[in-house]
Amino acid sequence: MTKRALLFFHFLILSFFLSAQTISITTDHTQLVLKVNSQKRLCQTYLGERLSAQTDLSQLNMPEAGLSSSCIKGLEAYPVMGTEDYYEPTFEIRHADGNPTSVLKYVSHSQQGNETKVVLRDELYPVEVTLYYKVFPEEDIIQQWTEIKQEEKGKVYLGRYASSMLYFEAPQYYLTEFASDWAKEMQMQNQELQFGKKVVDSRLGARANMMTQPFFEVGLGGPARENEGRVLMGTLGWTGNFRFTFEVDNQHVLRVVSGINHDASIYLLKKGDIFRTADFFFTLSANGVGEGSRRFQRWMMNHQLHKAKDDRMTLLNNWENTYFDFDEEKLVALFGEAKDLGVDLFLLDDGWFGNKYPRKDDHAGLGDWQVTKDKLPNGVPYLVKKAKENGVNFGIWIEPEMVNPKSELAEKHPDWIIMLPSSQSSGAGGTREPYYFRNQLVLDLCNPQVQDFVFGVVDGLMQENPDIKFMKWDCNSPITNIYSPYLKENQGNIYVDYVRGLYSVLDRVQTKYPDLYMMMCSGGGGRSDVTGLRYFTEFWCSDNTDPIERLFIQWGYSQFMPAKAMCAHVTEWNRKASIKFRLDVAFQGKLGFDIGLKGLSDDDRQYCREAIKEYKRLKDVVWSPNLYRLVSPYEGQHCVVQRVSDDRSHSIVFAYDIHPRYGERLLNTRLQGLDTDAKYRVKEICLMPGRQSWLSCNNKVYTGDYLMKVGVKVTSASDLVSHIIEITKE
Ligand code: DGJ
Repeated sequence: MTKRALLFFHFLILSFFLSAQTISITTDHTQLVLKVNSQKRLCQTYLGERLSAQTDLSQLNMPEAGLSSSCIKGLEAYPVMGTEDYYEPTFEIRHADGNPTSVLKYVSHSQQGNETKVVLRDELYPVEVTLYYKVFPEEDIIQQWTEIKQEEKGKVYLGRYASSMLYFEAPQYYLTEFASDWAKEMQMQNQELQFGKKVVDSRLGARANMMTQPFFEVGLGGPARENEGRVLMGTLGWTGNFRFTFEVDNQHVLRVVSGINHDASIYLLKKGDIFRTADFFFTLSANGVGEGSRRFQRWMMNHQLHKAKDDRMTLLNNWENTYFDFDEEKLVALFGEAKDLGVDLFLLDDGWFGNKYPRKDDHAGLGDWQVTKDKLPNGVPYLVKKAKENGVNFGIWIEPEMVNPKSELAEKHPDWIIMLPSSQSSGAGGTREPYYFRNQLVLDLCNPQVQDFVFGVVDGLMQENPDIKFMKWDCNSPITNIYSPYLKENQGNIYVDYVRGLYSVLDRVQTKYPDLYMMMCSGGGGRSDVTGLRYFTEFWCSDNTDPIERLFIQWGYSQFMPAKAMCAHVTEWNRKASIKFRLDVAFQGKLGFDIGLKGLSDDDRQYCREAIKEYKRLKDVVWSPNLYRLVSPYEGQHCVVQRVSDDRSHSIVFAYDIHPRYGERLLNTRLQGLDTDAKYRVKEICLMPGRQSWLSCNNKVYTGDYLMKVGVKVTSASDLVSHIIEITKE
């Protein structure tokens, strides 16, 4: 053979080898298949239900052989900006010479345990991009992230750095997004995705999810339904700016790009540094969002939520009862109320700190984490001790990332605050009026000294009071007046480095205080992402505790979040609803109270005490990830949800009538998730003192088959009526 023929032969073998590279990523029910094409590009060839015969993988068409794309190279797993693809790219890098493009080619891949790693490289520039896929087989969740490394001298900027690109082909696509606002979190909204782009994103930095939440659902072939149909459910684990782009291309292929929002975040990446993107998590259900939610909740409980296997504490919070108006005497009296109620913990909220500028309202004191002497002369240790004497644990509110301009901290360390530079340093010849959200500013967590300070807020309290069991970590302001005095010329890094700074602080807190329970709060549910919950044991869903609104908010969060993490408190919001109704709604989550007990009637107080006992008895079922949403508040004037224990021996049904229409025909509610052949006793619990259940199914025994096929009547024609029903295998 001549040398030329030999070379050609080698080339043929190599091309065959490369085109045959198939990477299969599987969970119990889902399969993602990537192939390397003849141009060494990594392409998605399949994403759907797991194929039974793995030999069928060879039948999957390479994208250029038939699947639709404007990109001549196929449906690239990580398409780049500026070369062939006409659509939203995942990756953009501006090299030191100003070239804004790259072409990423397959280099190698490896699969170890549940993790797959694919290395891509640009042949012209020293840029390496590694795609990671981690599967959680039983929960059917796939995690994706990317690592970007560059070895160029000079300034290299990342313009885009998504975590994931997924492609789908279906006759129609319907997006469900989770619109939000203060007191209006997780409002589910649906729309058909047509040709072009729909972006769901946040640019608020801190309190990043105030206006929209980092979750989505896409019905493939029709609107997402509860128990039928193919649906993609995804979320970004990032406690900051996120972005999901849904783009239907010219061939009606849906492209879903997920990652940190690159908007206003052109990131300067130093030579040798590795940029790790956020984690994107998704599940693909063939049986509607109900199945997807159970998968996400189970995954949160098994792999993600901090202290997921540990218990949670019921609590009494003083915020809506006293606001800033409290002193030692008032608090000690409230410890007594907490004890009388039977909760595990008293949570002292905002307003306990600041001396030069006492925190008597939200205009001053934030940043000065010393107890206000004339309000609480014996300090926090006295409160912890008194709580203990009353048989309750003690928890405390902090907002350590923030500062009021009226504070000693702001006077001492103006350079620690995210704030636009003055006219002198900007050279712009004039000062821009700062914008204050809730009269406060955000500390510059890009700065390691600030990270130390923020860690020190927790550490200081814990050193002084090792018996503090719980902290509520609030974050009321988005990042405003965006400029980091620490980063100076790399301002594009601020949104990303802020979150990294936050994680570094939270890592330290978790390492030093692994037993501390922490609530993630952000002016209600302005922070609610799944990576945040690696550090927090629970989160505050919303300041809105009107039980009717909460039915919607909890319905929304339950699409992804486990009940154990969702703080739900009984308050004064909507006093038209009885205490029973308010409590029965909060019973669905992690139960707490934020209400003055003195204002309640004896019966109401008695109801609360008994319901707390029942909650403690049943919490393992309440927190089970086996959630069945049976009747949607979005579809009428009722809401019914059901939880089932893993062994199907125990279940709870929560039924609520909101404002039923006159003469409305009431249907049976068919239960789910039970054993067909088993017999179950149905019993209404949590009745008001002296009341009997009037449900016709009460105290009867049915087969699981009957309960699931015929169902029982748990809704009524009356306003604001609720029932909690226990279903026990005989
Ligand atoms: C906002 C939170 O959502 C409330 O629960 C309360 O803690 C206030 N902040 C305190 O300022």
